[in-house]
Amino acid sequence: MAIIIKSQREIELMKEAGRILALTHEEMKKAIKPGISTYDIDKLGEEVIRSYGCIPSFLNYNGYPASVCVSVNDEVIHGIPSKDRIIQDGDIVSLDCGVIYKGYHSDSARTYGVGQISDRAQELIDVTKQSFFEALKVCREGNHIRDIGEAVYNYITARGFSAVEDFVGHGVGAALHEGPEVPNFPRKGKGPKLRAGMTLAIEPMINVGTHEILWMDDDWTIVTADGELSAHYENTVLITEGDPVILSRADGIEL
Ligand code: MF3
Ligand code: CO
Repeated sequence: MAIIIKSQREIELMKEAGRILALTHEEMKKAIKPGISTYDIDKLGEEVIRSYGCIPSFLNYNGYPASVCVSVNDEVIHGIPSKDRIIQDGDIVSLDCGVIYKGYHSDSARTYGVGQISDRAQELIDVTKQSFFEALKVCREGNHIRDIGEAVYNYITARGFSAVEDFVGHGVGAALHEGPEVPNFPRKGKGPKLRAGMTLAIEPMINVGTHEILWMDDDWTIVTADGELSAHYENTVLITEGDPVILSRADGIEL
């Protein structure tokens, strides 16, 4: 897949997509409480996106049946919302969502603990989030895609966690998935060089136990092979000639 350098106009549209996506996440975050179904979280997310005249980018993407991926506990990514899946005290819940504004995408994910969670679960959530910010530090022109993977990998493995290898981050723009692939581990070779105007969805998917995953029978849900917890954190990032810019953010809303 091609790596597409964005124009200033495209960046502005992606910023607006990202702002609306951040507001959407904020509403879903407030709603996550014991007793809510993952279906209701999805419906709320879709409603907020549509209230801004935007399109939920995941809905019908390769046949995906919802606007939000809601992945609970050992579910890594792509959990399909269901009326029968009720959030419980002690769960950790990953919400992955995408917004299209005037033809441009933003993609981001967050993981939340519900009520009382274990210390290790909280550490997983915190380390997964911080691994994104470690990667952000190396998002500078002249560095390479490999530097991102290395930053995530070194940070999380030093804390005893593992990085999923079967799924990777990606370029994002007029399409949800563009080049380059952005792994959360170092691959052979440096990978493409980072250039101003690249927009990347950087998304550590981090496990407490093995990095190995399994594919469920619904053809979407990915779970850890050992049943241990998994967390996901993602933002859409613009590479510039200076500091990188997080596009999937809004003023006054916690990242
Ligand atoms: N957020 C996922 C990604 O980053 C995409 C979800 S796939 C979908 O690649 F089908 F659910 F849209
Ligand atoms: Co993504």
